[in-house]
Amino acid sequence: MTESVLPTVLVVAVALIDVDGRVLIAKRPEGKQLAGLWEFPGGKVEPGERPEAALIRELREELGIEVTESCLAPFVFASHAYESFHLLMPLYLCRRWSGVVVAHEHAALAWVKPDKLPDYPMPPADAPLVAWLRDLL
Ligand code: CDP
Repeated sequence: MTESVLPTVLVVAVALIDVDGRVLIAKRPEGKQLAGLWEFPGGKVEPGERPEAALIRELREELGIEVTESCLAPFVFASHAYESFHLLMPLYLCRRWSGVVVAHEHAALAWVKPDKLPDYPMPPADAPLVAWLRDLL
C-alpha cells in the first residue's frame, strides 16, 4: 500500500471586528473553489513570505484597507484536510485599520454579530472558528 502525503497550504485569515463588535465575512466569488461560501478574508502565504506580511498584502488587495502588524493579534489555528491538500490557517484578530472596506475580489461582504455567524455557510476550515469567536467576543 502506498501512502500519499498531501501538500500543506498555509493561508492566513483575519476576523476584522468593528466598534459594534461585528465581524467581517466575505463571500467567495464564482469561478473559485468553494464559491458562494462565506470566509474570513485572507489568502495564501507566498513562499518566503511572513504570514503577517501576507495578511497585510491580502487585505490591501482584497479589501483596500491598510493594517499594521502591531494591530494583528494571532488568535486560533485552523487545520483542515481537503481532498488534495492540507490547509493550515491561523486566524488573526484585528480591531484597527485605515480605509473603508470594499469588495475588490469577493462577491459580497457582510458585517455580522458573532451569534449570527452560523447563519452563513462557510468552508469547512473556517466553520470551526466561529465557535471560538463567539466565546471570545
Ligand atoms: O486567493 P488565493 O488563491 O491566494 O487563496 P484562496 O483561494 O483564498 O485559498 C486557497 C484555498 O484555501 C482555497 O481554495 C480554499 O480551499 C482554502 N481556504 C479556506 O478553506 N478558507 C479560507 N478562509 C480561505 C481559503
